[in-house]
Amino acid sequence: MGRIIAIANQKGGVGKTTCAINLGGALAQLGERVLCIDLDPQGNLSVGLGIDLNSVERGMAQVIVEPDVSLASVIRETKTPRLDVAPTTIDLSAAEMELMTAIGREMALRDKVTPDVADRYSHIVIDCPPTLGLLTLNALVAADGVIIPVQTQYYSLKGVAALLKIIKTVQARLNPRLQVLGLLPTFYDSRTILGRDMLDSLKETGDHPVFRTVIRQSVKIGEAPTAGVPITTYDARSEAAKSFLELAKEVAHA
Ligand SMILES: Nc1ncnc2c1ncn2[C@@H]1O[C@H](COP(=O)(O)OP(=O)(O)O)[C@@H](O)[C@H]1O
Ligand SMILES: [Mg+2]
Repeated sequence: MGRIIAIANQKGGVGKTTCAINLGGALAQLGERVLCIDLDPQGNLSVGLGIDLNSVERGMAQVIVEPDVSLASVIRETKTPRLDVAPTTIDLSAAEMELMTAIGREMALRDKVTPDVADRYSHIVIDCPPTLGLLTLNALVAADGVIIPVQTQYYSLKGVAALLKIIKTVQARLNPRLQVLGLLPTFYDSRTILGRDMLDSLKETGDHPVFRTVIRQSVKIGEAPTAGVPITTYDARSEAAKSFLELAKEVAHA
């Protein structure tokens, strides 16, 4: 069965979607078979992997709340070989509300990742919304591992502590399999003191692993989604592409 990895942080704009798309792309480039699941109603991951949201009649919203809609039925191929996507539309926002009153509401996603889908992939990467709501909780319950992107351009460790606390609760009560694979420093700029300080304090604060790979601030990273492909396809020689390949190797061995 494929390993399921959630990309989570309740803060927006820290590089979650960028990480999900480009880790997915890099793993695919290394020969892995990858599924990216878009669990953010904004649909940025879907668009960044070339999906026209107007063409999505059934997506993760329906998978989460409709018993008869399977995960397999919404999966599409992307332009990148070995990289598939389960897209979403804004309907996922209403679906999350609907889920609130459902029995087993934290298990909705886990129950849909059935062996027929999981066996097709070596890695399943879930992009979470910028909240600590039911969608993120569903991702953490379905996952084997979680990656936490952390912006190194402002002091953001308090939010990370809150997330780590929730992860501990999920581990204790709902999903003992869940492992923190690591904090991932993003938007790194070695020229700023804050950037260097943040990287140091990330590594010092203790009992959670930090990836060796650091994702630097890069214009190319912002451009790639407009082409609907990961950075490893958009500009294979860029430093950003190399960083995500390094990250993919770390993840594959973690
Ligand atoms: N390392 C980076 N350098 C420059 N721009 C980035 C970088 N990572 C992400 N971005 C851009 O910043 C914005 C927010 O990133 P995103 O991955 O969507 O964050 P999140 O999913 O956490 O909200 C996007 O426009 C993205 O293209
Ligand atoms: Mg996002």
